[in-house]
Amino acid sequence: MKTSTALILLVHLSLHTVDEGQAVDPSCRCIRYTSTYGKERGTFSSPDYPRPYSAHAGCYMYTFIAASHQIVEIFFTDFDIYKENLDCTRGDFVKVYSEVGIHGPGPPSITEYSMWSRVLCGNRAEAPPAIYSHGPVLILELNIGSKVTNATGFIGTFKFIDRRNFETDGVHVQDTWCDYIFDSNPNTPAHGRLYSPRYPSSYPNNIRCNYHFKARKYERIKLVFEELFLQKGDESCLNRADVIKVYDGRSSAAPVLSILCNEVVGYEIMSSGPELFVQFTANSNVPGQGFKARYQFQMDNANADTLKASTDDSGSSFGPAVSAATSSCHQIFRSDKSKNGTITSPKYPLSYLPKTHCHYDFLGRGRERVRLVFEDFNLQKMTGYRMDCDSTDSIDIFLYVEGRLEKMVSLCRNELPKPIMSNGPKLSMVFRGLHSSGNSRGFKISYAFVTDYALKSGKQLLEYPCAFVFNSSEKGRGAISSPNYPGIYPRDTECNYFFYGNQDERVRLHFTHFDIEGVIPCKAVSASDYIQFSSQMVDVESPRYCGQLNELHFTSKNNFLKLTFKSNDRLDATGFRADYIFLRDSEMHSMTMPEFADNGASLLIPILVWQTTFIIKLFDIVENMVTQ
Ligand SMILES: *[C@@H]1O[C@H](CO)[C@@H](O)[C@H](O)[C@H]1NC(C)=O
Ligand SMILES: *[C@@H]1O[C@H](CO)[C@@H](O)[C@H](O)[C@H]1NC(C)=O
Ligand SMILES: *[C@@H]1O[C@H](CO)[C@@H](O)[C@H](O)[C@H]1NC(C)=O
Repeated sequence: MKTSTALILLVHLSLHTVDEGQAVDPSCRCIRYTSTYGKERGTFSSPDYPRPYSAHAGCYMYTFIAASHQIVEIFFTDFDIYKENLDCTRGDFVKVYSEVGIHGPGPPSITEYSMWSRVLCGNRAEAPPAIYSHGPVLILELNIGSKVTNATGFIGTFKFIDRRNFETDGVHVQDTWCDYIFDSNPNTPAHGRLYSPRYPSSYPNNIRCNYHFKARKYERIKLVFEELFLQKGDESCLNRADVIKVYDGRSSAAPVLSILCNEVVGYEIMSSGPELFVQFTANSNVPGQGFKARYQFQMDNANADTLKASTDDSGSSFGPAVSAATSSCHQIFRSDKSKNGTITSPKYPLSYLPKTHCHYDFLGRGRERVRLVFEDFNLQKMTGYRMDCDSTDSIDIFLYVEGRLEKMVSLCRNELPKPIMSNGPKLSMVFRGLHSSGNSRGFKISYAFVTDYALKSGKQLLEYPCAFVFNSSEKGRGAISSPNYPGIYPRDTECNYFFYGNQDERVRLHFTHFDIEGVIPCKAVSASDYIQFSSQMVDVESPRYCGQLNELHFTSKNNFLKLTFKSNDRLDATGFRADYIFLRDSEMHSMTMPEFADNGASLLIPILVWQTTFIIKLFDIVENMVTQ
């Protein structure tokens, strides 16, 4: 207790540069920290902490001053400031000045140019995990009002860190603010790092940074966003003003490989050729922290294999029989070599041997996703009533989530599994044939590296990672589904479906299957996947849908409809299937039924019992559509 109060040296700061006095109360007491005295971190706290601070205590300025090549990092270990309203403008509050200039000799001061960058109040959860200065100075201004409360104030630690730890490798393009070129050549390391401007402090707004990666002919570029915090939430990236677009080629004319916004951890990208273009655009009013990423120029897989094979030949210590057995069971499938194929359990369709253990890795690149379609699945018969696959023969599927391998599902017994799709270009599969049992055939799986998300309708757009156009002039009706349908949809995936009707047409959707993992209101707070209908390209207002619904009908407001599907990195479901039809306004009115159907009409009858009188009419409409 004594040490923390001792830290509070009350020094009067002369605020001679404050012209209009709008920034700080000149009677503010100033507490200055210029060193951690050899310790890794220093400590600071509000007056009397942890006792409740007294009312009318006034204003305190905590000024952290680092060396010119350093920035200041602070963490609040406890934070409890009386909160009277949401935006912390009344009651007690802490203003953070992270952009403080040093103007000539004398103590750093707040000028009319240095607006506070944020205001904090409330409890620990409402304070940010860490705060960083832009330059060598950071100021916290604590204001305690007249209201008597039990709030205890704050305690935290600070550290001065070298800003050169956050320098982007690569060559800065002259006369640009934040454009860089990363060239692969024998004289520079094949890997490096890149950061958003001012990282780890927040990036400025109204910026655009271009990062050009140029590998050599047989190289590819691997880019990993280790941390990326642009905006909170799970909004569609089409609705965000701060986004990162990754193009699979030289410029923004190349196909879009990924669009990143919100918050992402450990996201890996692999170019399909020797060039990659990354564009970071920030136009929102509330900039986030930004990103840190690393890149690597890698020999492309096909050539790497050739090199590896030649070295293996020279120094192999395995006998031929062993390496043959190994290669049949431990396999790597690269999309560079083949876009599809079939794998079977050893000795298929005869029974595999007990203690068979096989490992299969699938490595795609660019926008490719790995899709497994099960053609035969016949593992050891189960005895007893155990429902899990732990102690029996099984196939485990692993995905890369936040840079780590994570088990997505275990498959066992004999029921043919539905197709499986990866969340990115990589997937691993492990077969554990512990017991075998004379008459189990094993498995046969066809795999493919797909770029169309197994969506069989619509025209795919190259300017989005997953977007499809449905144009009334080309096709008046059809069906859509979630990616990988009827298998469970992939994680971390956003797909957009754009419906364009002719003038005075609207599109009507009838979902015959709807299973989206989540709970109302289908937002980030409930970690929900969701779909959302919008009548504009950018729209954050429209309601979201998730959960399991027997049926869902939706009619667009006008001749454009955007349907967004978005999944997060956990839990899965089977997605949706819907019929769509474009109808002119006149047809809308003459058709009193909300339903329509195509080939699946007979399936609908049980659901439509209450509407049997309309069924005849329904078939009329269907017949008309078919004969058109
Ligand atoms: C402070 O805490 C005490 C005891 O916990 C309580 O009686 C009192 O009402 C509280 N005061 C305020 C202003 O919250
Ligand atoms: C497999 O890929 C080849 C081309 O690489 C293609 O012609 C063939 O149709 C594909 N087969 C399947 C089942 O997708
Ligand atoms: C729809 O298709 C028509 C005819 O092919 C074409 O003229 C029109 O530009 C397309 N509209 C959109 C939005 O793609």
